[in-house]
Amino acid sequence: MKLGKIISMVGGDGEFSYQRMGVLQASAIKRLEPLMAEAVKQMSLPKQVPLHIADFGCSTGRNSISYMNFIVKCIIDRYLEADENNGHVTCMPEMLVSFMDLPGNDFNNLVQLLASEAKNAKDLAGSVNGANVGRASNYFSAMMGGSFYNRLLPKESMHFVISTFSLHWMSQIPATLTDKSSPLYNEGRSWILGGNPTIAREFAQQSMLDLDNFLDSRSAEMVPGGIVFASFISRHDAANPENQVNPECHHYVSLGPDFENAWNDLIDDGVITTETRDTYNLPMYCRSKEEVEAAIIKCGAFDIQYLQSPVDVNVCPEDELMRMLQFPKSFATFLSAWVRAMSGPSIEANMGRHNTDELFIRYQRRLRARATSLLSDCKAQQEYKIFTFTVLHVALKRNVFSTYSNQ
Ligand SMILES: C[S@@+](CC[C@H](N)C(=O)[O-])C[C@H]1O[C@@H](n2cnc3c(N)ncnc32)[C@H](O)[C@@H]1O
Repeated sequence: MKLGKIISMVGGDGEFSYQRMGVLQASAIKRLEPLMAEAVKQMSLPKQVPLHIADFGCSTGRNSISYMNFIVKCIIDRYLEADENNGHVTCMPEMLVSFMDLPGNDFNNLVQLLASEAKNAKDLAGSVNGANVGRASNYFSAMMGGSFYNRLLPKESMHFVISTFSLHWMSQIPATLTDKSSPLYNEGRSWILGGNPTIAREFAQQSMLDLDNFLDSRSAEMVPGGIVFASFISRHDAANPENQVNPECHHYVSLGPDFENAWNDLIDDGVITTETRDTYNLPMYCRSKEEVEAAIIKCGAFDIQYLQSPVDVNVCPEDELMRMLQFPKSFATFLSAWVRAMSGPSIEANMGRHNTDELFIRYQRRLRARATSLLSDCKAQQEYKIFTFTVLHVALKRNVFSTYSNQ
């Protein structure tokens, strides 16, 4: 099943929209700024113009515009620094930022946010450095709809590429997993977490193929010395892909037993058949560092600037979590809207809006019960890392030695 049209996040700015619910990712991305700044420092300053930057998996813009502004600022700083060091004025290049996502993405939302950004920048012009580059905003922008697992840009045209919280989404679910007669039919689950290792390995294989395609495509598009910076959901347990989240950390609440049990509730209540659930697979795979490293080496076009073991990023301070748990209903509403903002479109494509609403009603009920039980269980509160993501950060520099494939 190809997912290109149905995997995007919920658009607009409504209750389940990524515009609203991407707030947790925003908090994790903010902490990435030192790594992003370092990645910009590693980029060879281009001689050709315009300087071309792209975001692969920009979604509806909420977070993307913010980190793109930061990256552009870091690039401007590099040129200003180069001036100071050289004692003469280096020409500030014009910059083009390409925002790319799948065709089903709500680009209208992004365009509107960019327009208000440009207006704000214009209002400020004269008092900020941005005015030096002579436009309302510091960069020109373009939108592109397509899959980042394919070639999307001309050869050797990109200087800096970023992708955050996107590369764990798969391009497709292997057909064997949804074929009832196949031994790999993913029966009794909507995902692979804690499930059959053989089925998890089938996910792994697809996901590795996807990463190969991502790297090969970028290797063709990047200029030598260009940088790819990526940050995505990952896992600690390299050996066992079914351990998509670290069992010891109990990151179970968002996609673990409560979510699977909500599907079971839906079946028990006669809303959907088991087959409807079993033929749905959440198109997400958390790679290990070892898997990522192997793909980079296989591609051969990039030098690793930064690649460390996955880190657990907690985006909700403990006192804030305790405050949230005091209000199980709003806790459940928030967490289920967050999960829906990301998984909702693919679930709706599988079983329609009504059944998806019903699923999330049951999920909320489960979360509410979970919050209530956590309130009276201090040990479990500590074990359940509710708002913790395991994330892998990688920065790669396009090397000068390998030639791009003719993809
Ligand atoms: C969780 S959002 C991340 C948005 C933003 N980068 C952030 O960090 O907040 C993931 C985005 O990746 C996009 N995406 C997933 N698979 C993709 C693919 N194959 N090609 C392009 N975009 C993809 C989704 O449509 C979605 O907008």
